Amino acid sequence: MTSFYVSTPIYYVNGSPHIGHAYTTIAADTLARYHRLLGHDVFFMTGTDEHGLKVQRAAEKQGVTPQQLADENSQKFKDLFDRFNITYDRYIRTTEAEHTRVVQELYIRMLANDDIYLDKYEGWYAAADEAFYDESEIQDGKSIETGADVEWVEEESYFFRLSKFQEPLLKWYKENPDCIRPESRYNEVVSFVEGGLQDLSISRTTFDWGIPVPNDPKHVLYVWVDALTNYITGVGAFSDDENWEKFWPCNLHILGKDILRFHAVYWPAFLLSGGVELPEQLFIHGWWLVEGEKMSKRAGNWLDPHQLADQYALDLLRYYMLREIPFGNDGNFANERVIARNNAELADNFGNLVNRTTRMVESFVQGEIKKGQSNQDDAALEKKASDTIEEVHRAMDAREFHKALEAILSLSSELNLYLHNNQPWKLKKDETQIDRLNHVLYQTIEGIRWVATLLLPFVPDAANKVLDAFQVDTAFDSAEHARSFASLEWGSLPDGHTISSPEVLFAKLELPASEEEEKKKPSKKAQKKQEAKEEKKEKPKHIKFQDFEAVELRVGKVLEASQVEGSDKLLLLKVDVGEDEPRQIVAGIGKTYAPEDLLNNHYAVVTNLKPAKIFKIRSEGMMLAADTTDGKLSLANFPDTVAPGTRIG
Ligand code: MSP
Repeated sequence: MTSFYVSTPIYYVNGSPHIGHAYTTIAADTLARYHRLLGHDVFFMTGTDEHGLKVQRAAEKQGVTPQQLADENSQKFKDLFDRFNITYDRYIRTTEAEHTRVVQELYIRMLANDDIYLDKYEGWYAAADEAFYDESEIQDGKSIETGADVEWVEEESYFFRLSKFQEPLLKWYKENPDCIRPESRYNEVVSFVEGGLQDLSISRTTFDWGIPVPNDPKHVLYVWVDALTNYITGVGAFSDDENWEKFWPCNLHILGKDILRFHAVYWPAFLLSGGVELPEQLFIHGWWLVEGEKMSKRAGNWLDPHQLADQYALDLLRYYMLREIPFGNDGNFANERVIARNNAELADNFGNLVNRTTRMVESFVQGEIKKGQSNQDDAALEKKASDTIEEVHRAMDAREFHKALEAILSLSSELNLYLHNNQPWKLKKDETQIDRLNHVLYQTIEGIRWVATLLLPFVPDAANKVLDAFQVDTAFDSAEHARSFASLEWGSLPDGHTISSPEVLFAKLELPASEEEEKKKPSKKAQKKQEAKEEKKEKPKHIKFQDFEAVELRVGKVLEASQVEGSDKLLLLKVDVGEDEPRQIVAGIGKTYAPEDLLNNHYAVVTNLKPAKIFKIRSEGMMLAADTTDGKLSLANFPDTVAPGTRIG
């Protein structure tokens, strides 16, 4: 059986987790779930990094022992991951006795390979980063890269001959071009190593919260030697553990960009020295920012994942973080974007599809789905479904979570369009069409089952709710088969299978009133931006593609139009935008258009604006129009060959 080992970095226990920590872990969890659904034997490890000066000092500050602090905070990370339904197979702590054994064994192997010698370290150290810095890397007593305070250190130290590994490392990178992803990080590492490597101080004598150096216990090992080794301790290195054979080398270490050098240079060098195979791939993700700033405890701007989990469903947080920015890029965490994605993609696109389809199945055919008569629309739908799977696998292999989700949601859009084109609500009214009605409902339910199964790694709660309501476990030979990618053969739901409606999957959300107000007030940063903008007025303001994508523009066909009583400017329209029921829209176009001018014409409509009351009438969309040179309006229109409901973009 194919095996898959994925790890997260292990988290420092000097404080509590923030949403950035949850992000790395959610990404790893999504991949672990995805590989399980492929039928792979998965080992997913996360845990805590508990030794070192940073933790020792944090404990001193709080008047507790480092072990007490580690116990308390390690539990906080574990509780958070349990709350987030993280499906780790092993939660490792570097204070476990087994870990000390493995670290010391690796050290002895490095020593035996003549890669360690005793000398004196003189230089700068930043406890916050647990990193040594060159004179050229600091300014005003701080690391230029991270802003952490540095202190001068002079002490006896064991050194690792990192310089000896320059060529072997370059050879590894060259022979394994996928070993560091994204490509820009690979290039960064290669050019850093090409610039030459200095030997690395790997022990300290001025504090004692660490793993003792074998045969010289007044030294404790540098915390990064200790921490990185967790990746092999957890799978039973240097013992007869069967996990070792099965899972090492690790398929994927996931990590943030701030700890690239430790993982891409030091870690493979330690392994080469110890005679251990190298991992297959490191994937480096970006940072979640708050108003453009890195989130950190030091800056005091960190988002508490528990608070976010109180505010949003876990599925939504997972979806947002993986859909909003390409894995590898930085991104701003913004509540209005969480809400926009929830409303447009999860609630309107997928949730609404599930809701209306299952309601029709219950009321038209008493919950029983039957195969009937197919036509060319079905062939196109089935082709779209199989293309979607291919794209999901491609995207997941490239760790492009956002692309995988885009493809899955696009299958959901296709199902909405299929319903629109086949209009089961009309077929229901014609007795001669019962066979076709059955087939349209069967196909849509089958399509929803595919979307839900593909969504299992991303939004497991909602996806499982759909599969529960569809009673898939009784449709396949086992529940495991029913909830795996092996179940994705089109038409696997048996003829005559019964399904029901799940409870609401994704409730629509609104930004809290206080935040709406806040949003209106320009922040200091926004003010600065505005000033900069004024200066460069000639430059056009660019928006991100996601910002554009958040506006749902559809083609709408005007079915009814009348003047709003008491207003010569407003018209009341009934517009078909591809849903079961037409939308009611109040449009300020009465001075240019007479109601009868509009009938049966196709126009551009914004369909995901919050409904508003105009002249006390509810308006559920906005017609797009531009001013003409003679002071009138011109509606953006489309020919009849563009079907109502078609997305514009
Ligand atoms: N203990 C080391 C890792 C040792 S691994 C052998 C460490 N710990 S950490 O707690 O500081 O960070 C753990 C991970 O969280 C890193 O991958 C880091 O990039 C990530 N993040 C920290 N802040 C983050 C954001 N604001 N956004 C996204 N990820 C962030 O480093």
